[in-house]
Amino acid sequence: MLRHILLASGLLAAPAAMGQTPPHLLAGGCQGCHGVAGQGGHGIPMIHETKTRAEFVAVMREFRDNQRPGTVMGRIARGYTEAEYAVLAQHFAKPE
Ligand code: HEC
Repeated sequence: MLRHILLASGLLAAPAAMGQTPPHLLAGGCQGCHGVAGQGGHGIPMIHETKTRAEFVAVMREFRDNQRPGTVMGRIARGYTEAEYAVLAQHFAKPE
């Protein structure tokens, strides 16, 4: 029954078909700090369209690999896969 409701609402079908967490759910893990639109504030940098997708992914890798100084982003970046960096870049980076 629950499965039917989820399927009917598209909640179950879409992510299964895509084989990944939907972009808006991934981005939800960033918006608490960076703002809903990635606008930043309160000492947190803006990430909304400040970089190209390639630059955005490069920054996430630098945080992950401890090559970019940060207070929290190293730990956060290590919680996501390369594929998820690409999805996040699509969500927050400049449109190409
Ligand atoms: C707990 C709050 C918090 C969360 C959650 C968070 N960030 Fe950050 N982010 C920061 C802070 C603070 C910085 C500045 C670097 C530092 O101190 O780690 C930053 C820096 C960045 C930068 C570099 C911006 C620049 O131009 O230098 C990017 C890109 C970024 N975050 C992306 C993300 C993404 C993508 C997510 C979600 C997966 C995320 N952040 C989640 C707090 C957060």
